[in-house]
Amino acid sequence: MRQAGRHLPEYCALRRRASSFLDFCYTPELAVEASLQPVRRYRLDAAIVFSDILVIPDALGQRVWFEQGTGPKLEPVLTGGEIDRLNPNRLTERLQPVYETVAGVRAELPAGTALIGFAGAPWTIATYMIEGGTSRDHERARALAYRAPRVVERLIEILTAAVVEHLLAQIRAGAEAVQIFDSWAGALPATLRERHSLRPIAEIAARIGEACPEVPVIAFPRGVGGAYADYAALAGIAAVSIDQTVDPRWAAAAVQPHAAVQGNLDPVLLAAGGRAMDEAVDGILAALGGGPFVFNLGHGVVPDTPPAHVETLIARVKGNAA
Ligand code: CP3
Repeated sequence: MRQAGRHLPEYCALRRRASSFLDFCYTPELAVEASLQPVRRYRLDAAIVFSDILVIPDALGQRVWFEQGTGPKLEPVLTGGEIDRLNPNRLTERLQPVYETVAGVRAELPAGTALIGFAGAPWTIATYMIEGGTSRDHERARALAYRAPRVVERLIEILTAAVVEHLLAQIRAGAEAVQIFDSWAGALPATLRERHSLRPIAEIAARIGEACPEVPVIAFPRGVGGAYADYAALAGIAAVSIDQTVDPRWAAAAVQPHAAVQGNLDPVLLAAGGRAMDEAVDGILAALGGGPFVFNLGHGVVPDTPPAHVETLIARVKGNAA
């Protein structure tokens, strides 16, 4: 799961070779290496391409930069006029380095190791574009969705089309599955979740399904609780990634009949390690291992995770799976 590299010394060394995080993402030589590092170290079953969800607003012409220690920053887009200035015409041209990275990673990966492409979901990308960065409650984005619904709907439409284009280009370059990260879906009440998260994800999955029916689409609407079942029921969603707050036994009953489940060890428990981690892993495997299942974390690897804990985890999952 995302931003995993930060716990690896070899990633931190590589990261120092790029002047900025976006330059890192747009330098295929470095991005290919960052994608391969965890696979080489841990012999994982799948790799995710090294990039970021914020390359889409960057490619649409919004100013995006990453500040050390404070995370991503963007010049906020708040009005209809500002949204109309976004330029979707040169998206895949500007994101060519990402597709070169996908092709480069595919060429280097062992044949049996799957390559996952990804994009942010429209709502999650929109929160960063409206808030100008990470925020705790997304009050600005939600307020705009209530006060100026047309403006936010227009932004979601632009982003839905951009995500489809970006995922299809990654598939053409060699991605064998794609994951849609709706990290802030949990901030939405039910009516807005339907409009700004579920519907756009359904449309993206349908359009990928028409163009590339063999490519599984994984949805990760983080923090949606019982509504995970609604995402699993969407046509075109092959798998749903669940966060660590979900009871895996509930997911086995409510999600697995409709879609494969990916998840959901608490990343902090991976950092902590020990018996508590082993027991949680066994619980997840017991609940979900009988159906279609991909073992994963409930969110990103935290930077102070000891690599030895990751090795212990993998051995346990593989041992139990055999
Ligand atoms: O694990 C991977 O390296 C796969 C590639 C990947 C990255 N970001 C690289 C990255 C993926 C799949 C993402 C997704 C992403 N990016 C999401 C969705 C998943 C989630 O976190 O819920 C989001 C919200 C982002 C936006 C973003 N990018 C944030 C909030 C941050 C953290 C900023 C910080 O200071 O901690 C980033 C930076 C980022 N993206 C890093 C990596 C490896 C860390 C940059 C670094 O310090 O080297």
